[in-house]
Amino acid sequence: MATNPKLELLQSYPFEKLRAALANSAYEGELAHIALSIGEPKHPPPNFVIDILCDTGAMTQHLATYPATRGSDALRHAVAAWLRNRFTVTASAERHILPVNGTREALFAFAQAVLSGHNKSLVGMPNPFYQIYEGAALLAGAQPYYIANTADSDYAADFDAVTDATWDAMELLYICSPGNPTGHLISDSQMQRLIERAHRHDFIIAADECYSEIYFSEQTRPSSLLAASEAMGNREFARCVVFHSLSKRSNLPGLRSGFVAGDADIIEKFLHYRTYHGCAMGTHQQHASTMAWQDEAHVQSNRALYQEKFDAVTKILAPHYDVRQPEGGFYHWLPTPTNDLSFCQSLYAQQHITVMPGSFLGRDQAMLGNPGANHVRVAWVAPLAACMDAAHRLADFADQLSKN
Ligand SMILES: Cc1ncc(COP(=O)(O)O)c(C=O)c1O
Repeated sequence: MATNPKLELLQSYPFEKLRAALANSAYEGELAHIALSIGEPKHPPPNFVIDILCDTGAMTQHLATYPATRGSDALRHAVAAWLRNRFTVTASAERHILPVNGTREALFAFAQAVLSGHNKSLVGMPNPFYQIYEGAALLAGAQPYYIANTADSDYAADFDAVTDATWDAMELLYICSPGNPTGHLISDSQMQRLIERAHRHDFIIAADECYSEIYFSEQTRPSSLLAASEAMGNREFARCVVFHSLSKRSNLPGLRSGFVAGDADIIEKFLHYRTYHGCAMGTHQQHASTMAWQDEAHVQSNRALYQEKFDAVTKILAPHYDVRQPEGGFYHWLPTPTNDLSFCQSLYAQQHITVMPGSFLGRDQAMLGNPGANHVRVAWVAPLAACMDAAHRLADFADQLSKN
């Protein structure tokens, strides 16, 4: 039976690798399990969104309608208003914006829509990373090009080290700011240098900004590739596309709702692709999403909850670990005193906590090894009390390690 041979190139997902890695590490004590390995928001979704979805009259109408792939005018206008208020960016609801069913499917589908299919074409991406970028590149017949984010450069990518020949072969560059897992922000000036390169070397920048609303001070409020683009006079966002989501901003990972915005020609091509792909967002999701993008109060309270949690857990961890406050997102990217995988296995066996080994989120690079190694990603998504409990257990675990 013939199947797509490119599927063989895909690695299993980090959560599957973690399940296998912990299969032989039994926990035999009394402590409840706390999962810090998965970045699934656990704060409650906004009540008004639940109310909208529980309105039976409206639902009866929504479910009897085939949705339009380009989304409703109301949703695209709500997104345009949000981009204006949040980033002072002027995007056209008609030409620059497209709703998507969460950023994961969009980040994947985007590569299928824009890449040429030449087997020598490169897709740049951070390393460590969100694994969808790699899968998207491989299934589109391109080669991933990993750009390391290491502790030596405070987890910033060294774009200047990438050669002109590599930029020439690149068709698409994924960036992620705030970064998952590092929490690092790419500055506007760095984004502008990338945009200049994109023009010079003819590639597209896909900026994954799905953590942009989770930050810890107004001074480090994340910017957007679109804002950087507009500020340098690239007002039509040529070669720039951003990906935003309600999953983290509004605690709605189950709604599957986000948007893509940027270069009108690229958006038009992506829309054309999506009409065939058949991934229009349901009208009930579109309606609920319109309301969610129009409200900031719930986003502020959500951010305050993360700030409270990071303050609390950082105080507990700081005497035991080299804890660095992320600039955005809800992860600590913690250097480990021992190999990251054995750290995770022992932590599970002794403290009944799961964290993600950094090496599962990265790939080996020549001369460098895996830049995710000797780190773990800790997702502070659980309620405050569980996070504080977990932080105390991590502190006890570090004490134990230092005695051995
Ligand atoms: C960096 C990054 N991008 C995209 C996503 C996908 O989010 P969603 O599809 O819920 O918008 C995630 C989810 O964890 C993520 O961490």
